[in-house]
Amino acid sequence: MDDQPVLVFDSGIGGLTVLREARVLMPERRFVYVADDAGFPYGGWAEDALRDRIVDLFDGLLRDHDPALCIVACNTAFTVAGAALRAAYPGMTFVGTVPAIKPAAERTRSGRVSVLATPGTVRRDYTRDLIQSYASQCHVTLVGSPRLARMAEAYVRGLPVSDEAVAAEIGPCFVEEDGARTDIVVLACTHYPFMANVFRRLAPWPVDWLDPAEAIARRARSLLPRRADALHPEEDDLALFTGGRPDFATRRLMNSFGLKVG
Ligand code: DGL
Repeated sequence: MDDQPVLVFDSGIGGLTVLREARVLMPERRFVYVADDAGFPYGGWAEDALRDRIVDLFDGLLRDHDPALCIVACNTAFTVAGAALRAAYPGMTFVGTVPAIKPAAERTRSGRVSVLATPGTVRRDYTRDLIQSYASQCHVTLVGSPRLARMAEAYVRGLPVSDEAVAAEIGPCFVEEDGARTDIVVLACTHYPFMANVFRRLAPWPVDWLDPAEAIARRARSLLPRRADALHPEEDDLALFTGGRPDFATRRLMNSFGLKVG
């Protein structure tokens, strides 16, 4: 049990924003990062097809890596497949990522919150249910960006991304009505925190950009036994891609996160 890794799953590089927090809290753990780049982007997939794909993928992942716990570091994946994963693999603990609507509703002063996600996540019943359960007293604006996840993939690889294009994607998050302005934008796609500084610079007014990565890492930490022994050497941490060996820029990115591309 003790040497079992934590498996972190996303459609692409977004889960790295969660991995970096998880590493801080679980320095003794080995990590396996899995990017379903062959299926990227998840935002435009039909729900049933995406759910089946993810449940099938985990069949092999659980067998090959025997993880102690899995973090589904992708809102688009977890909101559609979280329940199915738990039903299909009852022996495994899945820590999910869902839009941080509850903490946003607790923190907003203006009562206006926006959720910046993929088109898939904003369509989900799961997201609507979160709003009904926790934010019925707020005005919630759902913004499903068809392009931002791709832009974030490019941005972290050092490719140019135009300010105008980013501003057009985040613009609908900024709502001003009856003298009240949006004061919190939930980053409901794990790719987006990589661009938070760009968002801040291009925002028409300052808002709190809510990134749930640390909360997800804390949840995972709380579910795994703590080990008092030495740090786990990062050289053992792996990154795997469903599309096969990734390009040089991606390999360099993974290496910069201390992940060996397998
Ligand atoms: N990182 C994923 C999320 O949190 C989505 C990116 C994609 O469209 O595949 O929703």
